[in-house]
Amino acid sequence: MIEFCNLKRVNDQFSAELKIACSKVIDSGWYIQGQETRTFEKNFADFCSCKYAVGVGNGYDALNLILQGWISLGYLSRNDEIIVPANSFIASALAITNSGLTPVFADVDPDTFNLSIETIEAKLSNKTKAIMPVHLFGQLAPMVEIMKLAENNNLLVIEDCAQAHGAELNNVKVGGFGHAGAFSFYPGKNLGALGDGGVVVTNDKLLDERIRILANYGSVEKYKHDFKGVNSRLDEIQAAMLNVKLKYVTNSIDKKRKIANSYLQGINNPLIKLPNVPNSGEHVWHQFVIRTAHRESLITYLKNRVETMIHYPVSIHKQNAYSDLNIDTLPVSELLSQEVLSLPISICLSSFDLDIIIKTLNDFSI
Ligand SMILES: Cc1ncc(COP(=O)(O)O)c(C=O)c1O
Repeated sequence: MIEFCNLKRVNDQFSAELKIACSKVIDSGWYIQGQETRTFEKNFADFCSCKYAVGVGNGYDALNLILQGWISLGYLSRNDEIIVPANSFIASALAITNSGLTPVFADVDPDTFNLSIETIEAKLSNKTKAIMPVHLFGQLAPMVEIMKLAENNNLLVIEDCAQAHGAELNNVKVGGFGHAGAFSFYPGKNLGALGDGGVVVTNDKLLDERIRILANYGSVEKYKHDFKGVNSRLDEIQAAMLNVKLKYVTNSIDKKRKIANSYLQGINNPLIKLPNVPNSGEHVWHQFVIRTAHRESLITYLKNRVETMIHYPVSIHKQNAYSDLNIDTLPVSELLSQEVLSLPISICLSSFDLDIIIKTLNDFSI
């Protein structure tokens, strides 16, 4: 069977360098908040062309700490509404509710799977204080339009960049459009650590400073705590792994773009709807997601031949965790949860396996 993604094979490509970097940290005797983390923060801020980057424990914490930071700085107040797509991983919404803010779930565009101006405007109210676009599957949300709408309505914009490291438009990378951006380095991401990791990027000095404090127990000076913070720090070993892998991320994205192009050109089965073809640069293909009205039959047909995944089988507003909110139907998100299917798009996918997947999909019938 062709695997969806084999992380050992992915990391094997960098293993000599990773092992040296890991040994260096072990031998240094310094494991938290050291030189590797500071270097990675500088490297990642440069990668995003942002002024500041703060390494944190994971992508959820990155989102949550931005919101906590904004509350702490007085930019947001408890119960303020934040518009978030219903079609995302649940972390986007949990970061809002766990900050004491109110998520307002918006529907998405059926072609891009992302928020659109129309779906945002349908949920705007006088309580809306921020928008959280998610660059789902690696595709840039319409950030130029979203920033214009935010400016006209005096809203903050927090970009959920967990799936989109390096996606860009007009030389601006994700994380650099909004007032702050949150990234995940979960091992399966295009830039993945060998454990959990995350980062916040921003051009706001006050937010950078406040998040550094909040993520370290609210402490400015050791054992003096000015805020009720948390423990969320990128550790030295993960920072060292990321310093190695960041050097190759552009190359990894190029490989994924080539695989995506082969799928887009090779799959021609009318039962399968391909993702839209974005302008170059705007998609980094964290996932390659097709749609079909015959998903169960297709999964059964692919069984033991091609491993696939569903991102996501239940829209966030339909999750039991949010049943208390009693949310209106969001037809596109709900339809997508019935029809989407993710194909393998690992950097280790061989052209031989890629051809087999394309042929197998083109031979599918009902
Ligand atoms: C869209 C999105 N937001 C946030 C997160 C949270 O990241 P992490 O798993 O590192 O906490 C993820 C991770 O899977 C994600 O896909």
